[in-house]
Amino acid sequence: MNTQLPIGVFDSGVGGLTVVKEIMNQLPDETIIYFGDTARVPYGNKSQETIVKYSRQIAQFLLKERVKAIVIACNTASAFALETLQKECPVPVLGVVKPGARAAAEVSANGRIGVIGTEGTVRSGLYGTYIREIRPEVSVYGKACPLFVPLVEEGLCEDEVTVLMAKRYLQPLLAESVDTIVLGCTHYPLLRGVVAQVAGPEVTLVNPAFETAKDLRELLTKKGLLARKDRTPEHRFYVSDGAEQFRAFANSILPCEMIETDAVNVKVFA
Ligand code: DGL
Repeated sequence: MNTQLPIGVFDSGVGGLTVVKEIMNQLPDETIIYFGDTARVPYGNKSQETIVKYSRQIAQFLLKERVKAIVIACNTASAFALETLQKECPVPVLGVVKPGARAAAEVSANGRIGVIGTEGTVRSGLYGTYIREIRPEVSVYGKACPLFVPLVEEGLCEDEVTVLMAKRYLQPLLAESVDTIVLGCTHYPLLRGVVAQVAGPEVTLVNPAFETAKDLRELLTKKGLLARKDRTPEHRFYVSDGAEQFRAFANSILPCEMIETDAVNVKVFA
């Protein structure tokens, strides 16, 4: 396979850009094609059947763009659709849940781990399943934090309302004496400051976006698919609605300005 082909990255909307940011930092020679399903966000409260259907449609779109690998940069879609896409796609497919789970299993000293995410991710219990595959004795406590996503999208990452909600959401996990919390939703790395402040210095925060970029590097290296350093990557960004808002959010969190790579509305579903 041509190593200069792009990597397809998708999410329910803007949140997956936290994963894109880590990939750009750790794999600066890779070209990224991003798809954000902004017309159908959120995924966090939808059924597995619906998420699998959406993920399949997006994977087909990315495959038509001739990607060499696909990263599901959405925790909910990773929890519900990873296995299906791995079975059906002719290229390697990576999700964010397994890398995050592995890191949490490695860092927890007391074997008590909290996972915060959407309703869907927490309901799936998949972080716990993967963590216990590595360390069967570990206790995993999940907590859905549905208001975190809109708070981030409203630009309230450091607002007192967010601190208040973080206290409420994290309280049951802290009451279980967790020493590790997985930021199990694409938006939560942007709330790292508030979560750290509420959880305190004894709690280690795991960012699955960072761990996924690390695993992607390993996967591409193993398969001989790492891009050569012979050109500046031209990333492309697609969304299913609202390209303008997407662009503004992307420019606020990505390391490079999307000057030449404007976001484009596309239809991946009928
Ligand atoms: N991207 C989703 C996730 O990581 C959060 C937003 C949504 O609910 O679609 O689970």
